[in-house]
Amino acid sequence: TWTASNIAEQLVDAVRDQIGDGRAICGLSGGVDSAVAAALVQRAIGDRLTCVFVDHGLLRAGEREQVENDFVAATGARLITLDDSETYLGHLAGVTDPESKRKIIGREFIRSFERAVTQALELQDSADGVDSSVDFLVQGTLYPDVVESGGGAGTANIKSHHNVGGLPDDIEFSLVEPLRLLFKDEVRAVGRELGLPEAIVGRHPFPGPGLAIRIVGAVDRDRLDTLRAADAIVREEMTAAGLDSSVWQCPVVLLADVRSVGVQGDGRTYGHPIVLRPVSSEDAMTADWTRVPYETLALISNRITNEVPDVNRVVLDVTSKPPGTIEWE
Ligand code: XMP
Repeated sequence: TWTASNIAEQLVDAVRDQIGDGRAICGLSGGVDSAVAAALVQRAIGDRLTCVFVDHGLLRAGEREQVENDFVAATGARLITLDDSETYLGHLAGVTDPESKRKIIGREFIRSFERAVTQALELQDSADGVDSSVDFLVQGTLYPDVVESGGGAGTANIKSHHNVGGLPDDIEFSLVEPLRLLFKDEVRAVGRELGLPEAIVGRHPFPGPGLAIRIVGAVDRDRLDTLRAADAIVREEMTAAGLDSSVWQCPVVLLADVRSVGVQGDGRTYGHPIVLRPVSSEDAMTADWTRVPYETLALISNRITNEVPDVNRVVLDVTSKPPGTIEWE
């Protein structure tokens, strides 16, 4: 019978068989899949796993802490964080085109990840006192990803430089994909079974390029701070209203190049609008805008305009997908 506990146990055994006495590295994104994959591998091989986390400075409030504190506390995993936020801000300066933002972030992310992996390997070598020539790279690939890429068993072993590129030539990585037969709901159940916090296990989808594609206009530190503060309020109130399971995700968007007149406190303001984009969906291919209760919208609007400097207006996106995409960029 399918129980999360049976499945978790079987997956841990399978990982142990695959890795043997080898060592593994897992990149964490802050999302569910990589966290659950890492937790399974940690169970299987303990400190022979090193997790790496790249902070690109485009994360939401508390996400880095969630990985560094909560994930580590729940799993006992060894973690290296690479803070590369300055680099990303530098490369993104003045860039407004959405696809250019994605390209820059994607390119830099590969570089960051390679550096993080190199650091992790050095750490493992010095901790173990040996040079390893064979290592494993853990990925949180799910069944729908496997089907989508047409991958059969043959994709289970690939060389590192085909995958992440630029890693030292003498290191050969084999892929470990403990979730490749599971659907999202099953991954969440296994994650709960492994004791991961609900904030990680129940996390809504969040794009790799992060808040950069939720600022319409150029990205800079102040704008990121503004968006981060508004986004944190939205998440808090949606959770308090019990809406997390009925909303697929709720992008919060800063229209950084738009200003409107407002009246706040003692006088006239000329601030930016924040857009709320709550959507209901099965798979993100199509979506409908979620009918969030007016009371919740009112609370969110009041809090954002009172608590977030430079924002004097909150608007609701009532477009389905199609024609609108879920993200604004
Ligand atoms: P759209 O905006 O295309 O989004 O309707 C569909 C789903 O994909 C997510 N998304 C991304 N995820 N990198 C990602 O990892 C991206 O560049 C990206 N763009 C969109 C989006 O959050 C939604 O879940």
